[in-house]
Amino acid sequence: MPESKVEVNRENPSKMAEGMAMHRFGESAKPEDERICYDPYAVHFINPEYIEFGIKHPEEAKARIEAMEKIFVGLSSSVVARVRYFDDFTEKSIDDGTEQLVILGAGYDTRAYRIERLKNIKVFEVDHPNTQSFKIQKIKEAFGSVHDHVVYVPVDFEKETFGQKLFEEGYTSSKKTLFIMEGLTMYIPPKAVADTLKFIVGNSGKGSAVIFDYYPESVVDGTCNLEIAKNIRNFLIQQGEPLQFGIKEDKIEDFLTEFGFSNVQNVTSEDYKKAYFHGVNENRDVCELLYFAHAVVE
Ligand SMILES: C[S@@+](CC[C@H](N)C(=O)[O-])C[C@H]1O[C@@H](n2cnc3c(N)ncnc32)[C@H](O)[C@@H]1O
Repeated sequence: MPESKVEVNRENPSKMAEGMAMHRFGESAKPEDERICYDPYAVHFINPEYIEFGIKHPEEAKARIEAMEKIFVGLSSSVVARVRYFDDFTEKSIDDGTEQLVILGAGYDTRAYRIERLKNIKVFEVDHPNTQSFKIQKIKEAFGSVHDHVVYVPVDFEKETFGQKLFEEGYTSSKKTLFIMEGLTMYIPPKAVADTLKFIVGNSGKGSAVIFDYYPESVVDGTCNLEIAKNIRNFLIQQGEPLQFGIKEDKIEDFLTEFGFSNVQNVTSEDYKKAYFHGVNENRDVCELLYFAHAVVE
């Protein structure tokens, strides 16, 4: 796949990271028995003007959300299902003895603060310095200080590799490790995805795992004819955070086994709809283009 010629703008904190926090905030405001995921800290990473607008002009805010839902049918539900699936996977990995967590493209991920059992596990958060410095500032405002078990590792995946920096921060390659890439692979070049997967296979303990999400390659290169695919692609170009990487349809298993992973699991929108969308959520659309995948290092 040719690498994107579209301009990438990472001078400011990632708008997409803020957008993901907004999805989590919106879902978390619902009653406990209606929400798909819960992140009580997402609010700290959203421009307060957006929240004030929602309070002062609830009808207009609702109309704006509905307009976005028409352009990106089901995407918001797929994003909150992703949060829930990755949370459940993290909990299960802790049950199975994970000793280290590396969150790549962490953005405003708050798992290190909201998943109680992670407080006994070292968490490395890797992200672009311009997003990460904003996050650290907000974490300090919300919690007083950054917690000791969380290590922040600033890296631009387009310009540098993260391995050496992780080791310098105390990462141990013999430990059983979970690597999370949530909302990341599509935003970085194919080589950065490949280098990351190679690092994981070559530098983590037996039974380590990776979990990530992806779009089909046709969404990224613009050949997918679905309207939502074009809308996602064009919107991200406008935002300065263009899609750069996707995986060929039905090829996830080949893709990951070539790197040396085993036990590859592909999770489709049908799978996560069936797992999480019941009762009042039964009729919510999800986006068929967003897939999750996980695999193990033997
Ligand atoms: C869509 S956000 C997802 C954030 C978070 N994982 C979540 O799900 O809420 C994408 C994240 O990838 C990071 N990212 C994108 N390109 C990057 C790069 N070249 N180097 C480092 N981080 C990058 C952005 O800073 C942003 O935090």
